[in-house]
Amino acid sequence: MKSQEKFKDLKKPEVFRFIEDNLNTPVPKLILSGSPFKSIDVKHLVNQIVGKKKAIKKLPTWFKHQEIIYPPKLNLEQTSSEITANHKSKSISGTRLIDLTGGFGVDDYYFSKRITELTYTELNSDLFEIARHNFKILSLENVQSHHVDSIAYLRQVHFKYDWIYVDPSRRTKSKKVFMLKDSLPNVLENKDLLRDKSKNLMIKTSPMYDIEMGYKELSGIKELHIVSVKNEVKELLWIIDWRTVNSRTIKLYNYDSHRRYSFQKMDHDKLQSHLVSRSKYENYLYEFNSSIMKSGLFDHFAAKYGLGKLEKNTNLYTSNILISSFPGKIFEIQSVDSINFKNLKKEYKGTYVNIISKNIKISTENLRKKLNCKTGGDTDYLIFAKTTEGHRLIKAKKL
Ligand SMILES: C[S@@+](CC[C@H](N)C(=O)[O-])C[C@H]1O[C@@H](n2cnc3c(N)ncnc32)[C@H](O)[C@@H]1O
Repeated sequence: MKSQEKFKDLKKPEVFRFIEDNLNTPVPKLILSGSPFKSIDVKHLVNQIVGKKKAIKKLPTWFKHQEIIYPPKLNLEQTSSEITANHKSKSISGTRLIDLTGGFGVDDYYFSKRITELTYTELNSDLFEIARHNFKILSLENVQSHHVDSIAYLRQVHFKYDWIYVDPSRRTKSKKVFMLKDSLPNVLENKDLLRDKSKNLMIKTSPMYDIEMGYKELSGIKELHIVSVKNEVKELLWIIDWRTVNSRTIKLYNYDSHRRYSFQKMDHDKLQSHLVSRSKYENYLYEFNSSIMKSGLFDHFAAKYGLGKLEKNTNLYTSNILISSFPGKIFEIQSVDSINFKNLKKEYKGTYVNIISKNIKISTENLRKKLNCKTGGDTDYLIFAKTTEGHRLIKAKKL
């Protein structure tokens, strides 16, 4: 069935009402009851309900509109969240932008506010139909949507876009990939075309993509953004201006759930060679946020903040006085001891405590099992780490 036909029946007011009314109905119950609409299979209704529920946190603007249509869960997982889409749009300005991998159109919703004309392209006909419908519901007036292979489309364009945006698909035949050479469209094979047809290019890659590989594979990099939400790296953004010779400016963002963020910038070319000193634990202990960890620049930041490091390969830092501007978790050390699991088990069995394992061979989960405790609670931490004196248990309170 053609995609346009497929979604026709879903677009009826009574169907949207049913979806809204059943957001909290358990899926097995929905399936057992069957579809109340003759022309719609119950699995399509369930898909809409599941999608809308996922949108509550990830896509609140979409969730607010009753007539939005959602794609299957897998496609929804591949979309940007509103927080990261909004972040990307802040680097964009000009007249024309083309998105080579439109998908559900989340990034484009935000780009459209920063650009005069936006071209959305998408290969998957269902996703294309869904995004086109949703753009209408979201009142986007400056978007042209094309159901095409974006690379073929780009080849026949006779001008340069101010921006090309590409968020290559990282799923091939249900396998997850994270290298640019395995993602679609293949940005590396089409480098010359992208350069010919754009003044600026923004590429989104997986958080797993190796930064050094990025600097080798790509050219014209003006900035790399490492974007985390709630201390989890969500995307690497390679911002390319073809007039630039690769610059090593790395910008690190860490958003909380309210779009507030902490920000650090590091110019790799100007990095000083001073390295962090090894230090015995002092009063405070620090763990950098995920963006800084991904950048690999943790020791340089530590030197900047005047911190000591617990051990060469233990990414925990310490200081005598509190550095409250530290970008990451801050702990107050309460005690440091050698590790005695027998005693610890007696003390923590059945209680709630947070566990961190750093540079020792036992995982957090195995430590939890060994202690027979539950993980969680507010501020109490047991930190198992290799220090300059050997393996230690640091009891600490998170500030
Ligand atoms: C990771 S998703 C993009 C998600 C999008 N940025 C969002 O926030 O909703 C990648 C999309 O690129 C599409 N795609 C892959 N190769 C394409 C091509 N050559 N032309 C057009 N679309 C393509 C896939 O079908 C998929 O929907």
